[in-house]
Amino acid sequence: MKFKALTAVAALMVTIPAITLADPDDDTLVLNGETEMVTKVAAPAHMAETGVDTVMSGWHFRNDDTQAMQTDDFDNPGMLAVEAAIEAWNTVEGEAGKSCASCHGAAEDSMKGIRAVYPKWNETAGELRTLAMQVNDCRTNQMKAEPYKYTSGPMAAMEALISVQSRGMPVNVAIDGPVQAMWEKGKEMYYAPFQRLRA
Ligand code: HEC
Repeated sequence: MKFKALTAVAALMVTIPAITLADPDDDTLVLNGETEMVTKVAAPAHMAETGVDTVMSGWHFRNDDTQAMQTDDFDNPGMLAVEAAIEAWNTVEGEAGKSCASCHGAAEDSMKGIRAVYPKWNETAGELRTLAMQVNDCRTNQMKAEPYKYTSGPMAAMEALISVQSRGMPVNVAIDGPVQAMWEKGKEMYYAPFQRLRA
């Protein structure tokens, strides 16, 4: 439980990875010639004391070859994981005799925008859930199947499949209400090394 809670806090600071860009200096990139993604934004107010005024996608720090490879899904080996997850999505597993698709239909439709709002508060369970926690909740409670190991390949692939359905969408994680205290805790953890540096 404790591990899960901490993981959820850490994941609050995570953003949707930006994949590609035409010019490293641009603020946006166009993926597959169609999906526009923002790679640089003004830093939020709470970063003021760090002196950092622009938040950049890690994409900007990759070398030219990697950036070029990530420009096109056909060249990107990461998409092989997405394909493996499509297979898993459609595979019946567990005692309930269901696949993800049995309940959610096509991931392209049902998972649109989901990554952008996770981690998300689950009212029934009374917990802040990362995407991985939600996937495993569905595996154990809905499918009666074994959970994926939290940081395993199959979990990462499933997260990738769900995440690509939100490419180009702004991160929109709710940090108010029951999540506020955890967000404050995540903020404290995020800035702790910076504060140690200044001390
Ligand atoms: C028997 C039906 C069923 C199956 C099978 C199932 N789910 Fe779910 N899933 C649900 C229900 C019901 C919810 C809403 C749960 C809630 O809000 O507590 C949900 C919610 C989700 C969400 C969160 C959506 C949101 O709006 O926040 C994700 C992501 C998800 N499921 C992924 C999966 C994946 C991946 C699989 C296969 C490994 C799967 N589900 C299998 C019924 C199912």
